[in-house]
Amino acid sequence: MPIYDRFAKHYQSGPYTQFTRRVISEVFPRWLELLDFQPQTLLDLACGSGEFALAQAEVGLQVTGLDQSARFLALGQAEAKARGLKLSWVQGDMTRFDLGQEFDCVTSWFDSLNYLLHVEELAAAFKQVAAHLAPGGYFLFDMNTIYGITVQWQRFPYYLQQETADYIEFAENTCDYENSIATMRLIMFERDGKAWRHFEESHRERGYAIDDILLLLGAAGLTTLHVTGDPRLMSPLGSQDGRVWIAARKGA
Ligand SMILES: C[S@@+](CC[C@H](N)C(=O)[O-])C[C@H]1O[C@@H](n2cnc3c(N)ncnc32)[C@H](O)[C@@H]1O
Repeated sequence: MPIYDRFAKHYQSGPYTQFTRRVISEVFPRWLELLDFQPQTLLDLACGSGEFALAQAEVGLQVTGLDQSARFLALGQAEAKARGLKLSWVQGDMTRFDLGQEFDCVTSWFDSLNYLLHVEELAAAFKQVAAHLAPGGYFLFDMNTIYGITVQWQRFPYYLQQETADYIEFAENTCDYENSIATMRLIMFERDGKAWRHFEESHRERGYAIDDILLLLGAAGLTTLHVTGDPRLMSPLGSQDGRVWIAARKGA
C-alpha cells in the first residue's frame, strides 16, 4: 500500500502544512540571509503537495518539485494552475533520479529524508543532491533526530489528529528502538453518505546519528556549513533537540 495516497488530500488540508508554512516564512529566509545567498533555480526534494515549491515559484524562482507520490504531485499541479504558476513536477525516488540539470539550491523539508530507512539510501540521496547542485550551490534540509524519533514521538502513543464532520484521523506511534525506526500508523475514516470508510497508512521514519549524516554528506562531496537545532537562533544542536537543520555546500 503506497503512502501519501488517499491520505494526501487530508495531509494538505490538515495541520501538517503549518510546519512548511513556518519554513516558508521563517526558516528559508533566515538561511538565505545567513548564507548571503539568492538562488535563481531550486529543486525541492520530496516536495509533497508543493506548499514550499509553490511559494518559491511565486517569488520568481525557477522551481522543480520531486516526490514519489502521484497524488501529492497532482494536488501541487492543480494549485499551480489555480495560482497561475509554472513549475516542473517530477514523480521519482529521491535516491535515484536524473533530471539532467544543476540547481543553485536543493531543499528537503519536514522529515522527508527520515523516510529513507537504510543508510545506503541516505547516502544515495545525498549523492543525487550533489549531482544536481551547481558548484557552490547549497543543500538545505531538516531531519528528525534519534531523540525526536525514539523519545519525543513516543510520548504520544495514540492520539486524535484530525476531526471534522467528514473525516477523522488517529495516529498510533510505535518504535523499533534498536534501529531508531518509528512507525506512525494513521487510522483514517472518511464519511461516505451515512457510512464511514476506514483506511490506513503506515509511515516509517529512521533517526540517524548526526556524525553519520555529516560523514555521508562529506562522502557525497557536500561540505557542511551549519548544524543547528533552531535555525532562527542558530543555536548549537542540543542532545534533546528533536530536529536538526543543516546547511551544506557543494565543494569546499
Ligand atoms: C512529511 S512529507 C513532507 C512533504 C513536504 N516536504 C512538506 O514539507 O510538506 C514526506 C514526503 O516525502 C516523500 N517521500 C518519502 N520517501 C520518498 C522517496 N524515496 N522519494 C521521493 N519522495 C519521498 C513523501 O511522498 C512525502 O511527500
